[in-house]
Amino acid sequence: MINIAIFASGSGSNAENIAEYFSGNKEIQISLILSNKADAFVHERAKKWGIPSLTCPKKEFDEGKRILEILRDHNIGFIVLAGFLLKIPDTLIETFPKKMINIHPALLPKYGGKGMYGDHVHKAVVAAGETESGITIHYVNEHYDEGQVIFQAKCEVLPTDTFEDVARKVHKLEYLHFPKVIEQTIGAAQKR
Ligand code: GRF
Repeated sequence: MINIAIFASGSGSNAENIAEYFSGNKEIQISLILSNKADAFVHERAKKWGIPSLTCPKKEFDEGKRILEILRDHNIGFIVLAGFLLKIPDTLIETFPKKMINIHPALLPKYGGKGMYGDHVHKAVVAAGETESGITIHYVNEHYDEGQVIFQAKCEVLPTDTFEDVARKVHKLEYLHFPKVIEQTIGAAQKR
């Protein structure tokens, strides 16, 4: 059994979609949801699925020590970042080599890096007059949004689309692909 921890800072709709996908799975289970915010809605979603959820505030998270203890206590073997806004400390990256992945709501390397998260990304895509956007799932390394790309999927951006329209299309892609890509990536990690 592989135990996954999902890190999420806000609503957590991806976290919930992943929890639903793996519920009843005998090889992969979502064992922990971690947020840097005590009032993030993802905690409610965790409750609904009977998954323990914890808050690790920024200062403690940045130090790395406490978070490593938490992950060890829950026997976590794989980490999924789904709308998590803090930078990942190096100790964590070193402890989970190729065992931590992130989803970014655009086609990296475009619209990545510091400050490019959530609606900021979709607003920038619309402002630039892009004709397409999409999702990128990648391994996490020490630089924001620069780890090796595992998977991308595209959606069309129409001239009449608002940033909310683009966000909706991108979320749809996330729900469709992210759980399957997690499953495949864990499968690949086990073969190494
Ligand atoms: C998603 O679009 C994800 O790609 C981005 O943050 C958003 C999180 O949405 N990194 P939710 O909290 O899963 O609803």
